[in-house]
Amino acid sequence: MEETKKLSKINQLTGTIEIPGDKSISHRAVMFGSIANGKTEISNFLMGADCLSTVSCFKKMGVAIDIQEGHVTVEGNGFDGLKEPSDILDVGNSGTTTRLMVGILAGAPFHSCIIGDESIAKRPMSRVTNPLRMMGAKIDGREDGQYTPLSVRGGNLQAIHYHSPVASAQVKSAILLAGLNTKNEETTVTEPHKSRDHTERMLRAFGVDVKEDENSASIIGGQSLQATNIFVPGDISSAAFFLVAGAIVPNSEILLKNVGINPTRTGILDVLEQMGASIEITPKEGHTFEPVADIVIRTSSLKGTTISGDLIPKLIDEIPVIALLASQAEGDTIIRDASELKVKETNRIDTVVGELKKIGATIQATDDGMIISGKTKLTGNAKVSSHGDHRIGMMLAIASCITEEPIELESVDAIDVSYPTFFEHLDSLAK
Ligand code: S3P
Repeated sequence: MEETKKLSKINQLTGTIEIPGDKSISHRAVMFGSIANGKTEISNFLMGADCLSTVSCFKKMGVAIDIQEGHVTVEGNGFDGLKEPSDILDVGNSGTTTRLMVGILAGAPFHSCIIGDESIAKRPMSRVTNPLRMMGAKIDGREDGQYTPLSVRGGNLQAIHYHSPVASAQVKSAILLAGLNTKNEETTVTEPHKSRDHTERMLRAFGVDVKEDENSASIIGGQSLQATNIFVPGDISSAAFFLVAGAIVPNSEILLKNVGINPTRTGILDVLEQMGASIEITPKEGHTFEPVADIVIRTSSLKGTTISGDLIPKLIDEIPVIALLASQAEGDTIIRDASELKVKETNRIDTVVGELKKIGATIQATDDGMIISGKTKLTGNAKVSSHGDHRIGMMLAIASCITEEPIELESVDAIDVSYPTFFEHLDSLAK
């Protein structure tokens, strides 16, 4: 059942929240634990719908995975421990599950079938199926492997040096994971801009040698993974909603604890600084392969900026909420080189522009981004929708904190995909 929620203005946001675990890192911890030898313990695992889809798929391949509210134990038996699933692997709404798992399945000597929801069925899969076919995997799917449902029969892969036309960590990861199943050959992925490097960092934590060089990553086939313990830092993409909320709601001050600040993800922090936000970042000691910080954000007077090029992959998932932020900044904010937005859970150029216009923002779509002019009073008194996209839902919920009149947010349940405790956190900060 799709839920609708009425949301009203909030006068002030103050207090402390612990940001839930990072979605990208939670997925990888379960996947890598599933193909490692031994017991992997994962703490602060994100209990969002997407990561639970990953758990369910690997369970169907015979991996013993136990979940106790945020603590996950994965009993891996090495890559060869994966079994042919007797059922379809349902990825739900999760692009990361689909693309990384196809990379693993490409090297598995059995048949599997992948299906997801309506949104997944529209997302381009040829960006992974093409290079994996070049490596020798037998993959088929709707429209010649462009879309789900996909069927995979893996095994016998050859290494490649792949020049990806897009900066995508999902593509890079799928190829590197397939590269693990070649025979002592080197697989390399080169991207136009560096994408998030959680796979490279975590594979190293599992004992695999991965080389990184500016926009390339390489792996030698035949290496096995040894189980390890993983602490998942708070997701900076989830923190982004409260960073923006703290900056735009009057008289606010929010402390966000344990936020992952991997430099391939911190574009939102760069943009907040560029726009003049009052933000303090305190790095924390003792975190091994992913850096972590506590962050304080306060109500700020903001100015427009330009966001493009190398910065885009570092904040691609934050663009919906950055558009809202920009509506509260003086002057124009120009976002370009971001056509990847069109192939996310929704076409995020259309959904961001369409929904923010309904509540009075001055925003215009461009071919590869958008232009937002501020500062605008957001009106409210409108029915808006997440369109089934968690990040659009949360962006609109944060917008409602400053609209003159209440808004009605349709398909609010989409938020469970990455931040099931979002409204609890918002309510705990509202004064
Ligand atoms: C992700 C990579 C990004 C991001 C997505 C998660 C990952 O997608 O938008 O939410 O975990 O690797 P692309 O690889 O398509 O850029």
